[in-house]
Amino acid sequence: MNSSMILRAVRNRLIRKLLPKPVSVRHAEYSMVFSADDEDGRPKMELIQLAMAAIQQAMVIDLSEVSQRIKNDIKYPDVWPGEHYKLLAGLVKVLQPKLIIEIGTFTGLSALALKKCLPPDGKLVTFDIIDWRKLANRALVEEDFADGRLEQRLDDLSDPTVMERHLGLLKGADLIFIDAAKDGVQEQRFLTNFAGVQFDKPPFIIFDDIRLWNMLKIWRLIRHPKLDLTSFGHWSGTGLVAFEQK
Ligand SMILES: C[S@@+](CC[C@H](N)C(=O)[O-])C[C@H]1O[C@@H](n2cnc3c(N)ncnc32)[C@H](O)[C@@H]1O
Repeated sequence: MNSSMILRAVRNRLIRKLLPKPVSVRHAEYSMVFSADDEDGRPKMELIQLAMAAIQQAMVIDLSEVSQRIKNDIKYPDVWPGEHYKLLAGLVKVLQPKLIIEIGTFTGLSALALKKCLPPDGKLVTFDIIDWRKLANRALVEEDFADGRLEQRLDDLSDPTVMERHLGLLKGADLIFIDAAKDGVQEQRFLTNFAGVQFDKPPFIIFDDIRLWNMLKIWRLIRHPKLDLTSFGHWSGTGLVAFEQK
């Protein structure tokens, strides 16, 4: 353990002592609530309408195929609202995107949810820095890639020089799902890098974990129209942004 890890462990222990959980739950995280009237990224009507349509789809979408891929863990997509999985599938069902970019494949559950309602001519490119094949609890199988509509790229888009190599792909994105490190800086780097992309048309961006402490500032400072959809997404926070080219 290095000194910053020790410091973080001590700080976390101190916070837990000063602010103990008010209830007993499986998993708790520290967060904070903010006033809405001075929010700079208020949603436009179209974004609210999109969210409502996606939620309606999420209510009826069957993700049992995705749940079946989960071994030795909670079948998250089956427990309403299905973490972010049903909402992701609902958004794809409504938007019918030709290109989805995901940052953070991990075992592939969200990739499977995103692919569920992808149109026949749609494509999902999922980025990670770890090959899904290396994970013991992987949900993906090789056949998921057989139709050419799913591809994993092993690259770090938070690095501007790496991002540049993928500009040709990224400019065509209709929907971007960001679910990577949540370390308090990386998601901001993705946003900064995306600001330099000349998108063919403004994409929608979904952020995971927006209510976690490390993500509070990044989410709050997003000045594009945005909507917190946590009650219909991941309990740790799900946010939808209508990214506007500035
Ligand atoms: C929480 S997991 C993603 C979970 C997945 N999206 C889901 O919902 O099933 C986060 C993933 O982000 C990956 N990651 C971390 N930094 C990254 C980066 N700079 N670029 C791409 N992926 C990254 C990690 O390796 C990990 O697999």
